[in-house]
Amino acid sequence: MINVFQPSLGKEELDRIQGVFESNWLGKGKLNDEFETGFAAQLGCGREHVFTTNCCSEGLFASMHMFDIGPGDEVILPSISFVGAGNAVGACGAKMVLCDVDPRTLNVRACDIEKKLTPKTKAVLLIHYGGVPCEMDEILALAKKHNFAVIEDSACSVYSTYKGKACGTIGDMGMWSFDAMKILVCGDGSMLYFKDPEKKIQAEKWLYFGLESKSGYSNSVDKKWWEYDVSSFGHRAIMNDVTAAMACEQLKKLPGFIARRKEISDMYDKLLGDLEWLDLPQPIKEDCTSTYYFYHIQVKADDHRDLLAKFLRENGVYTTFRYFPLHRVPYYINHFDIKDEDFPNANYASDHTLCIPVHQSLTNEEVETVAALIRKYGEINGL
Ligand SMILES: Cc1ncc(COP(=O)(O)O)c(C=O)c1O
Repeated sequence: MINVFQPSLGKEELDRIQGVFESNWLGKGKLNDEFETGFAAQLGCGREHVFTTNCCSEGLFASMHMFDIGPGDEVILPSISFVGAGNAVGACGAKMVLCDVDPRTLNVRACDIEKKLTPKTKAVLLIHYGGVPCEMDEILALAKKHNFAVIEDSACSVYSTYKGKACGTIGDMGMWSFDAMKILVCGDGSMLYFKDPEKKIQAEKWLYFGLESKSGYSNSVDKKWWEYDVSSFGHRAIMNDVTAAMACEQLKKLPGFIARRKEISDMYDKLLGDLEWLDLPQPIKEDCTSTYYFYHIQVKADDHRDLLAKFLRENGVYTTFRYFPLHRVPYYINHFDIKDEDFPNANYASDHTLCIPVHQSLTNEEVETVAALIRKYGEINGL
């Protein structure tokens, strides 16, 4: 089966993990430090803005806590979002306000957000779909005018930039995912960014029981180092050095991964570009860069997307659609004021879009096979 996503790990990661075993320290330690420093450098921000956590979903939940969002507040998020974003909003007691997206890029636009603004809007939780940046200038201008926080779910945008700034560092908070299906992978893991370094300090405490001081060897021997205080009923969501070991090596490989993904995306553009029954992803704007996390095609004819997915799967190619629109999740419909007719673009996207295989381990032959099968489907069905 040709996978839609696939991690690329090797000897370098294994060697690094062996070093962790030998060091006798598996918990959060020096390698987390190294990864935070390296990742901040790649983002082009100071080290005081970022720290690791165990997964990006935890970052989504933490964002609600850090911006003091709760009952009586409203959070706007695009319907084409990860389910963890919806759960984070619902769990804190705020009102989930879903908005529509661009039908082709599947990114939220300022005009979509504007339609849903009320005096209760406390934050917008956006996602850069497939690593392609949203129109951040327009969204930030709205945020300034209406005084809401901008939280960037950059799970898929580990190397994306908008006008020279790394996605995830443009708004007030950002988060990246390093789970098994992402580009830079370490099993599970995440980095969080806060524009305000003071908020970063508070968030780091929140994700470690709200502990006020570090315990153990770092404390003075003049004190009883086993005593502690907490400043909140915080969680425990940290990354360990086994996963950080992988992340450190993956970070070095990231530019190569992205370059290969771009090559694959360019190949698909060439191999599928003449098929009139398909819409291909739009070119990346000149002032932006992408991670090429998704290559999403849109089958123009109704009813053919699912049949194409089935045909590809029967022929050894796995595809998917990300992300099932939140306005169609029954549990959310039961809890919030959601009307299907408010989402014409997300509905179109949801019924016509297919994410086909893109990962750095794909061979040119595999890319050609996927493209040839798509062409064949069109021929068989007279499209
Ligand atoms: C857009 C988006 N946000 C957040 C997440 C959550 O990431 P994690 O698995 O690290 O919790 C994912 C994972 O699939 C995602 O795709």
